[in-house]
Amino acid sequence: MNDYLETTKAVYKKAAETPDVGLCCTTTPVWQLPDLEMPKIMLDMNYGCGSTVNPRDLVNNPTILYVGVGGGMELLQFSYFNRNKGGVIGVDVVDEMLTASANNFKVAETLNPWFQSDFITLKKGDALQLPIEDNSIDVAAQNCLFNIFKEEELKQALKEMFRVLKPHGRLVLSDPICDQDMPEALKNDDTLRALCLSGSLPLNDYIKMITDIGFGTIEIRAKRPYRILSPNHYDTAENIYIESVEVCAIKDPMPVDGPCVFTGKSAIYYGTEEYFDDHNGHVLMPNQPLAICDKTAGALAALNRDDLFISPSTYFYDGGGCC
Ligand SMILES: C[S@@+](CC[C@H](N)C(=O)[O-])C[C@H]1O[C@@H](n2cnc3c(N)ncnc32)[C@H](O)[C@@H]1O
Repeated sequence: MNDYLETTKAVYKKAAETPDVGLCCTTTPVWQLPDLEMPKIMLDMNYGCGSTVNPRDLVNNPTILYVGVGGGMELLQFSYFNRNKGGVIGVDVVDEMLTASANNFKVAETLNPWFQSDFITLKKGDALQLPIEDNSIDVAAQNCLFNIFKEEELKQALKEMFRVLKPHGRLVLSDPICDQDMPEALKNDDTLRALCLSGSLPLNDYIKMITDIGFGTIEIRAKRPYRILSPNHYDTAENIYIESVEVCAIKDPMPVDGPCVFTGKSAIYYGTEEYFDDHNGHVLMPNQPLAICDKTAGALAALNRDDLFISPSTYFYDGGGCC
């Protein structure tokens, strides 16, 4: 029944042994940081579809967990922000990928005098059963792995991330999403799924899976074009447009009225009073945008005032806000 998980392992065993430059191509720029020199082999083995590294998450030497290591590029970027032995833990289920990334860290050592391979601890393990203690991680990340999982496994993988994170810890995810109906034939094609092409969920379903696990705050940090599955190449009657998203899910307590999901909306008060106060924690100064979550956007819009503007979602939320 879970043959697709075995197919996935086989696909990434091959991708570990023979780098496949086009496997998960992305338009996300690779971080340029002072004194960080990225080995070419890591760029060739960049099998992600966005970035999970954000300096805002990485203050005070956080303990970082990265699941699905690939060629190790993001682990090297994370270790830039925690230069302690074992500060970054990488988990992967494919032996060959663990070996390839360990070799790549040795190359990284020769190019980056500040870097030591032992900043990173590699562990063999499955995203569905992490070899990590409860409440021990500040920042957990996965890039382009969870989209491969079917619903039951995705739920389990998210539960595992929630379990290992400390309270207020952050899960950073990068995955393809698709707001059209993915044809069944494609969804059930194990190889396409393993290649991150046909497992994508609609954005709202993806976010709901995450909030249902208990993450109280969600930030949608980026949304970018990813792929077209066209009838001349795939078993589909129409073009299927896939995007990639970068999401941060914070293990904040769940608010009684539901999660705060920031999609990049802001409210602007343009009335004649000194300020506008919704008596629910949001004070708007005249003509100054306040970033708000979708729940607050809905509540403010429901007031039907003609002196409040609610901007549409940008899907590029970058911090600040109401909750
Ligand atoms: C699409 S690649 C992404 C690699 C890396 N995150 C990146 O951005 O380049 C998926 C990674 O997940 C690993 N993987 C596949 N199934 C896994 C599982 N069940 N648990 C942990 N890792 C898994 C693969 O070996 C591979 O390293």
